[in-house]
This record gives sequence, structure tokens and C-alpha cells, in this order.
Amino acid sequence: MKPAEIAIIMGSQSDLKVMEEAAKVLEELRIPFSLTVVSAHRTPERMFKFAKEAREQGIKVIIAAAGGAAHLPGMVASLTTLPVIGVPIKSRNSIDGWDSVLSILQMPAGVPVATVALDGARNSGILAAQILGTHQPEVASRLEEFKEKLKKKVSNSARNMEEHGYRGQGIGFKQ
Ligand code: RP5
Repeated sequence: MKPAEIAIIMGSQSDLKVMEEAAKVLEELRIPFSLTVVSAHRTPERMFKFAKEAREQGIKVIIAAAGGAAHLPGMVASLTTLPVIGVPIKSRNSIDGWDSVLSILQMPAGVPVATVALDGARNSGILAAQILGTHQPEVASRLEEFKEKLKKKVSNSARNMEEHGYRGQGIGFKQ
């Protein structure tokens, strides 16, 4: 297998229950990735080392997740020129999720973080794959198949609902 080109990092082990969705979609797309905990507040030196060395490790895209005072994605973005996708987590120290979203979203000009939805781990994996797909045709074609499957799923749901109404639920009605 090729070495990981996508790194998934998160502020705490407790983020994994959300972030496993990013890992799962990358597995579905057969894209190698690394996965670890890097905390901006509890292990700042580790965060610095990770961000500074990511490019030479062969990483092309970083997915960084954090909740509450969610500084990890922005701080990593400040230390690298690799694209950083931020995943706000509704964690136990988060008031309502908005704190996580705004901490990651409202970056100052010059230091972008591509922020996905609250707990939007699956989309972070897909977006990272799409970035690789800009220059890796085999990844782009797997993404085509992936989108085709999404389309089929919705068409099946629509046909089922049109034919069976609300009773159609359960007859091939899998989201
Ligand atoms: C953030 O604090 C982490 O990303 C996590 O979302 C949150 C809570 O961390 P734990 O107290 O569960 O370790 O830094």
C-alpha cells in the first residue's frame, strides 16, 4: 500500500467516536491515511513538530478535529502550507457546538482552514480525497463511483417513496 498522504489528527481520544467516520470513508475509497491525537493545548510541542514535519513525511492534506476552544486546526494551519481541513466537534467541553465551529471557522486572512459542518467527519474525508483527486486520476475515478452510488441511493429512495408512500419505509429504503 502507498504511504499515507492524508493525516487525521484530533485534540483528544474522545474525538475519535466522531472522527472514525473520516477514517471509514477513506477506507471505502481505498486511500491510506494516518490517525493520531495531537493536542494544541496539552501537547503544543508535539503539534509544532507534527505540523512542521508533515510535508516531508509525504502528507498532502491534514484533517484536524477539535472541540470547544478548538485551536488545533488553526494553529496547525499557521505552521504549514499544506491544506488543512477543520472538523468542529461537539465535545463534552463544548457549550453547544457553536464554540467549536466559530473557533475553527473564523480564521484571520492569510491562514485558511477549510471548515466542514459540526461533527462533519465524513465530509472531511471526502474533501481530502477530492484534493488528492485533483492530481491522482485513480482517486478521481473512485470518487466518480462514490458519487454515482449516492445518486443511485437517492433515486431508489425517491422511486420507493413515489410507489409506496410512507408505507415504503423498510422496503429497500436504506439511507
Ligand atoms: C479539545 O477538547 C478536544 O479536541 C476535545 O474535543 C475536547 C475535550 O477533550 P477531552 O477533555 O475529552 O480530552 O481539545
